[in-house]
Amino acid sequence: MLRSKPDQMCGITGYVGDRPGVRTVIDMLRRLEYRGYDSAGVAVATRGDEASGLAGGGDIEIVKAAGKLAVLEGELHDYWDKYGAAIGHTRWATHGGPTTPNAHPHYSNDGRIALIHNGIIENFQELRGELQAGGFRFTSETDTEVMVHLVERAYRQNGDMEQAIRDALTHVTGAYSIVVVSAHEPDTLYAAKTASPLIVGLGDGENFLASDIPAVLPYTRRVVVLEDGDFVTVTKTGMCLTTLAGQPVTREPFTVTWDEQTAEKGGFPHFMLKEIYEQPRAIADTLRGRISPEETVILPELEAFSQKQLGAFTRVQIVACGTAYHAGMVAKRFWEHLLRRPVDVSVASEFRYGDPLVGPDTLCLVVSQSGETADTLAALREARRLGATIVSVVNVVGSSIARESDAVVYTQAGPEICVASTKAYVTQVVALYMIGLHLAFVEERLSQDALKVYVRDLTALPDAVESVLGGALLVEDLASRLAERTTFFYLGRGYDYAVSLEAALKLKEISYLHAEAYAAGEMKHGPLALVEPGVVVICFATEPRLFDKMLSNIKEVSARGGTVVAIVPEGETRADAAADEILRIPAVRTEFSPVVSVVPLQLLAYLIARARGCEIDQPRNLAKSVTVE
Ligand code: G6P
Repeated sequence: MLRSKPDQMCGITGYVGDRPGVRTVIDMLRRLEYRGYDSAGVAVATRGDEASGLAGGGDIEIVKAAGKLAVLEGELHDYWDKYGAAIGHTRWATHGGPTTPNAHPHYSNDGRIALIHNGIIENFQELRGELQAGGFRFTSETDTEVMVHLVERAYRQNGDMEQAIRDALTHVTGAYSIVVVSAHEPDTLYAAKTASPLIVGLGDGENFLASDIPAVLPYTRRVVVLEDGDFVTVTKTGMCLTTLAGQPVTREPFTVTWDEQTAEKGGFPHFMLKEIYEQPRAIADTLRGRISPEETVILPELEAFSQKQLGAFTRVQIVACGTAYHAGMVAKRFWEHLLRRPVDVSVASEFRYGDPLVGPDTLCLVVSQSGETADTLAALREARRLGATIVSVVNVVGSSIARESDAVVYTQAGPEICVASTKAYVTQVVALYMIGLHLAFVEERLSQDALKVYVRDLTALPDAVESVLGGALLVEDLASRLAERTTFFYLGRGYDYAVSLEAALKLKEISYLHAEAYAAGEMKHGPLALVEPGVVVICFATEPRLFDKMLSNIKEVSARGGTVVAIVPEGETRADAAADEILRIPAVRTEFSPVVSVVPLQLLAYLIARARGCEIDQPRNLAKSVTVE
């Protein structure tokens, strides 16, 4: 199975050469459109000389617009055919809504430097304050903008663009890839990368920068993939690669043999598989900036609520649909344990037409990837009408649910394209853990020491998921043995029951097979009658306290001829004799196992669907965002 470190946030493009720069970077952005975005922009360094065919110039021209590329193109007018080094960006909002001022490129106060960015700057608040105190004006709400002002500040001091960028980068912490164009050196693009992907496309008398290979394929197939800590200077005739500290780096270009469609998916055959592999990164991004050096949870989003207000909630109501509802099921168990008060979790379509016991004493948690699901939005409005306080966990910045909430904690999954949700689910669960821990700490139900242990266990999750993905070959073997089966049950207790629901949904959605989840103890109250040879029963047994109970359920299924696949933590061997197949997952704290144990089952669903020749990314009858009742 192909492995890589994909990323699906903003789209970055850059061009230096003799083609019209703006037209070229826009064409490249179009080839990254599949990633999803909410606004776009370009900047070009116009030389203003005869050869460029431009009037005026010798400056940086920037055009940006909220919405699709077509909107930006409508704004370009005579900029379309501008020559000169250019950069382009499609934004997926993280800090600040999807508005035109928040779109990239961001520019320096003197208008002579423009910068695009993919990633998250963790210390931007602090830097923003410092820069504002130094007289810098901000025109956006983004985390990105601090970087261009840092570059300008350093340039004023040293008059050297490359040094200024290197200097600016020493001040920022977080994850980024950036590209800078300036009127000071209009023939040069500078780029740096610490986490988000960036490549250089090597042409003949022209060179390209992009966040993903498909952007450059019509122009060149010779590509250098930048690594974390790289700094690159790109001109028409070549590139110079160094470390951020300036040490020379040698890296051979490689020739891309993928067709454009495969390249869009980062070499994966489907978006679903790509998104499954993005999960360690998505979880790390969701945690990023939210864990303090003292190992507490920082959620400035919830600052508006005082300790008193939070303590006044006597109950919590979670509303969501589909996968987001399953994330809510995990949260219910975790929060009830931590906060010692009732947490109800309801399917939004049931909640909205029920007679819910919700009032001003209720904290309503709304969970939604898209932030647009009609039933979830209606449930939010009903809860608000009843006087509840609304906190949402949403992936799409500026979406309807986000706008109508009192506070939003964004997941940082990046755009999810496959209809069946994977990385959005794990990030929703992680965000819900963090909110629960934060509230328990604020309410003094959790000591600082106890919180530290939780936080350490949380930060271990990206590696645990990475390690499950490292064992994907075992899941492939299993899938090849199960691909012809037609009935699947998923059983679990406690946290494992919540995961069973999500794992069964994955198989149902993309393989069209009958997949049913049950609380394991309920099996004997009916469904056990359906077990016979050929039926597959996936048994999650990750909770030590409930292991013996699960083992009994495994034996009950096995005695009736069902094929048992047991999901157990590493080191656990007691189910080996009774189960037909075993999948071992890294041992993590019980409460956090849903983030890890779901992953092999996402893979299994994917591999079975693929073996059966199913569509996968766009399953029949289903939609990514359900905006009707
Ligand atoms: C649809 C999607 C699911 C998703 C559900 C809720 O059914 O196919 O993947 O879980 O809607 O969507 P939301 O955007 O509110 O999380």
